[in-house]
Amino acid sequence: MERIRSKELLNKVVSAEEATDYIKDGMVIGVSGFTPSGYPKIVPLTLAEKVKRTGEKMKLTLYSGASLGPEVDGAWAEAGIINKRLPYQTNSTLRNEINAGNVEYLDMHLSHSTQYLNCGVLPKVDLAIVEALAITEDGDIIPTTAVGNTPAFIKSADKVIVEINTAKPMELEGMADIYINENPPYRKPIPINKTGDRVGKPYIECGLDKIVAIVKTDMKDKARPLTEPDEVSRKISDNILKFFRKEVKEGRLPENLLPLQSGVGSVANAVLYGLCESEFKGLTCYTEVVQDSMLDLLRCGKANIISTTAISPSPEGFERFLKEIDFFKDKIILRPEEISNNPEVARRLGVIAMNTALEVDIYGNVNSTHIMGSKMMNGIGGSGDFARNSYITIFTTASTAKRGAISSIVPMVSHVDHTEHDVMVLITEQGIADLRGLSPKERALEIINNCAHPDYKPMLLDYYNRANERGAKHTPHILEEALSWHSRFMDTGSMKITEEYMEA
Ligand code: COA
Repeated sequence: MERIRSKELLNKVVSAEEATDYIKDGMVIGVSGFTPSGYPKIVPLTLAEKVKRTGEKMKLTLYSGASLGPEVDGAWAEAGIINKRLPYQTNSTLRNEINAGNVEYLDMHLSHSTQYLNCGVLPKVDLAIVEALAITEDGDIIPTTAVGNTPAFIKSADKVIVEINTAKPMELEGMADIYINENPPYRKPIPINKTGDRVGKPYIECGLDKIVAIVKTDMKDKARPLTEPDEVSRKISDNILKFFRKEVKEGRLPENLLPLQSGVGSVANAVLYGLCESEFKGLTCYTEVVQDSMLDLLRCGKANIISTTAISPSPEGFERFLKEIDFFKDKIILRPEEISNNPEVARRLGVIAMNTALEVDIYGNVNSTHIMGSKMMNGIGGSGDFARNSYITIFTTASTAKRGAISSIVPMVSHVDHTEHDVMVLITEQGIADLRGLSPKERALEIINNCAHPDYKPMLLDYYNRANERGAKHTPHILEEALSWHSRFMDTGSMKITEEYMEA
């Protein structure tokens, strides 16, 4: 099958170097991609090299679906050409630039990003750079392994550069389901009643006129390797299964559960491996990203269908996926992220959301983004889209970090991403805290007794009991002490109260 199906477009094929001439200082650039999947590679990388070589003045605003591979975030951050970035990132070079104050970063709910753009809150896109499998006769774009915000960026952009990626097989064509809603007051209900409902078109509307350059490449996505599940993540996974079994037994979940959403990272991956080995079957996933273990859920026959906005396995997982694409083709639906992460759909389907926390406080507030209150890790991503709107919202974390020097359960979180009102269940390797229907004081005891590490449990109980003896008793706190665990870690390298600390 032809990759460029319009004869009119054949004279737009240029080198990556020539394509970079369309990128000018001060522009807003919208790129395809979601996680290191489906993002443009050769044009962004060539631009970074050109700027470094020529010293050309270049400051850009960069929009994407979510995180990107190092050819964009890493290379552009290193070349110093990102002025502003949204809505999510995971790249270490860019993270350092953000934390050094050199890049303005908007850490946003992913489902808000399209709406902000469509309604004119964010400046429009000057130029979109998108990876494609192929371009149709009418100039429409067939996406590769991620849809993300590409439809919105193309709609907003004056000009579009297309990277045709021949490393992605044509068999991917047909996986995308592009449904576009209107702005209020014309917005309609999204007609997805089951995970597997297809409601849109298999391509992204663009048109011949917007396409100014086409660059061919066979560069592969720089997928992130996953670490093997360790003992802690296995225990977390076991506890999740224990929780599901109880919910089924009590009649609050059907035997095949409800559509699963799972976050990124090694713990999230391990949790789904646990499901592969469990008795649960007939599962579906309504999620934003598919890692190796979710593909395995389909392979082992435990799940039938996955709705997502990106396929993002490890490097080995990706090679395997591409070889088995005929098996996966009718089992994975790729939607725009405003649909994959849509609150309306998550609430209607009754999604079970499973995301990871950096730290949680004794009342159930979750910090997923900021280390010690100020340092950005990645961002909230889609976790908030699902956390607020799912049928059951689960947060997982190891009970300690940095080899025990940090308790992930603290008196007060140093930053709040998910409030006590959204967090329904907390699971660590120590146990399960079911917070539904509990008052703040009941939640505190449930969390401390079931989820805290034994090294920190007495300290947390001591804090809670002393707080409960003074001041208002609805959500007891000792304000001058509430963040002292974080200060102690920054001063001494540990949240524990050692003898040296007491002497000092
Ligand atoms: N305080 C300080 N640092 C902490 C910490 C805490 N309470 N808990 C973990 N960390 C550190 C770890 O030590 C590790 O540091 P390192 O990179 O220097 O080794 C880092 O944070 C990541 O922790 P890790 O245990 O490896 O977690 P992970 O890979 O499972 O990722 C999140 C956890 C929270 C960072 C990640 O899930 C995330 O970015 N979530 C927000 C976005 C999201 O949920 N998206 C979901 C929809 S896909």
